[in-house]
Amino acid sequence: MTAAPRVVVVGLGDVSVVHLAAIEKLRATLAGVCDSRGDHRALLDEVRPDVVHICTPHDQHVPIALDALERGVHVLLEKPVAHTIEQADLLVAAAKDHPGLKVGVCLQNRYNLTSQAAHEILTSGELGRVIGASASVLWHRDAAYYAARPWRGIRERSGGGVLINQAIHTLDLLQWLAGEVTTVRGHAGRYGGVSGDVEDTAHLILDHAGGARSVFFATTTNAVDSPVTVEIVAEHGTLLIRGDLTVTYADGRVETIAELAPEGGGRAYWGASHELLIADFYGSLDDPEPFWIGPQEALRSQHLIDRIYHLHP
Ligand SMILES: NC(=O)c1ccc[n+]([C@@H]2O[C@H](COP(=O)([O-])OP(=O)(O)OC[C@H]3O[C@@H](n4cnc5c(N)ncnc54)[C@H](O)[C@@H]3O)[C@@H](O)[C@H]2O)c1
Repeated sequence: MTAAPRVVVVGLGDVSVVHLAAIEKLRATLAGVCDSRGDHRALLDEVRPDVVHICTPHDQHVPIALDALERGVHVLLEKPVAHTIEQADLLVAAAKDHPGLKVGVCLQNRYNLTSQAAHEILTSGELGRVIGASASVLWHRDAAYYAARPWRGIRERSGGGVLINQAIHTLDLLQWLAGEVTTVRGHAGRYGGVSGDVEDTAHLILDHAGGARSVFFATTTNAVDSPVTVEIVAEHGTLLIRGDLTVTYADGRVETIAELAPEGGGRAYWGASHELLIADFYGSLDDPEPFWIGPQEALRSQHLIDRIYHLHP
């Protein structure tokens, strides 16, 4: 297979637009769709697709994924894995029980040209050891955003706010680029007044296994959607992602790696990489190895978030 698999999409809200655009562009066969008034089990039984794209609210990820795996269907899941770690662990276990099926999580920012280049430079050893990092997600989500989709502001359904819903991508990049996190401290709270019972602002200090420390700030109370920043300081240079990637070497050389412009109907702040991830996922379906961003890998950042939530419930 499976350059052009038969796929279905479950959940037809905002993010489904980029999945549907990618499906069309990649010439996969869209064999069916279903929203909350349909029955995803009936769809899976009727259509017997190769892949289900799960684009539902956070509490509706794992139940649908488990039903798909039971039916022999590969699962491509929107982030986060689930609204709780307990639910996420059920999927990790089910994925292990179905080694012939792929489970992928849409942490598409790892496919950004800038993230890929930064990862390659850091793993090449050219810049030496990572000394420290910082990242910020300064976005705007107003009352209309929560009113349009009430689940986003209900902790029982979403699992949380800015950390699990928006900043998870950037936290994922921080730990992917600066190394495994051994300790996380910080606080998450509600300051903006429009986010229901989920946090709109969080600050974190992360200690990494290699000795580096990262500082991280995320809020959805900013006036606008500012570009995400990630800065990695290493012994022999600095990497700064803010839209494009700027690499400043200790000898004064400066290189810029441009990011792709988003297309396909998505929001600019989702980035351009859904299609790259989906193409890679389809291309991986016959590989013997699990997809590289499976539930366990995606849980690295979600565990950090969960620790903050439990420090300040
Ligand atoms: N990777 C990204 O950059 C990115 C961007 C936006 C959203 N997301 C994620 O995508 C998911 C969906 O977010 P959204 O903003 O599109 O939400 P949304 O509310 O706009 O869409 C969700 C859709 O799922 C439907 N639905 C709910 N329960 C269902 C069920 N049991 N069966 C079938 N359909 C069901 C709803 O009716 C709705 O149409 C979330 O996990 C979100 O975090 C990811």
